[in-house]
Amino acid sequence: MAGRVLDEPRARSFAFMLGSPRVGGATELLARRAAEGLPAEAERSWLRLSGLHHSGVEGFGPSSAALAKDDDRPDGDRHERLLLDATLEHTDIVVVSPLYWYSVSAQTKLYLDHWAAWMSHADLDFRGRMRGKTLWAVSTFARGQADDAEPLVGMLRRTARYLDMRWGGALLHQARSTGELADQEVAHHAAAFFGPAHAELRSH
Ligand SMILES: Cc1cc2nc3c(=O)[nH]c(=O)nc-3n(C[C@H](O)[C@H](O)[C@H](O)COP(=O)(O)O)c2cc1C
Repeated sequence: MAGRVLDEPRARSFAFMLGSPRVGGATELLARRAAEGLPAEAERSWLRLSGLHHSGVEGFGPSSAALAKDDDRPDGDRHERLLLDATLEHTDIVVVSPLYWYSVSAQTKLYLDHWAAWMSHADLDFRGRMRGKTLWAVSTFARGQADDAEPLVGMLRRTARYLDMRWGGALLHQARSTGELADQEVAHHAAAFFGPAHAELRSH
């Protein structure tokens, strides 16, 4: 199939959704290490979830202002639009969230709550356009063990299934409270995380 690989590279693009309030913290660092393992041709975008507000979520109605394309939108709506566009345009969504109370951070949860609002907006066909994308998780935790992240992983895996997305897997590592990874050898392991995507990129 080598000829096919060269003729028809399957474009994969990764949106890294940064859900920690701490810029450059351990979870973002882990995700950046993982991204180093992606093939050079895979596009990647880094988006911060902090600043996302609740207005589009209350009552699970669409945030019309956020979805409008004009430039008069408030900053919050513009940020929501940016996240919506990135979510729809990339083939792979990577949820990068520290483990907070065994699950995702509040900002990450709010981002996923926006998926519900976007789904209720018929014009977007959000559900249809999410189908077949791949959802991944990158997380760090401080005190506990990797299996403390079961609620985080289970929630995201079920979310992927609900939207007919593929589940890519979860990269979990312990971190120090200072925001460094507990084991510096992690870099090598992290760089192999997207391996299946890497292989698929080359074999389709
Ligand atoms: C509100 C809050 C809740 C947390 N909950 C957990 C937890 O349930 N289990 C755990 O091991 N660590 C927990 N931690 C620690 C963070 O998961 C850990 O410090 C993580 O590496 C922070 O990532 P960051 O540097 O990317 O922000 C919590 C931290 C905060 C601030």
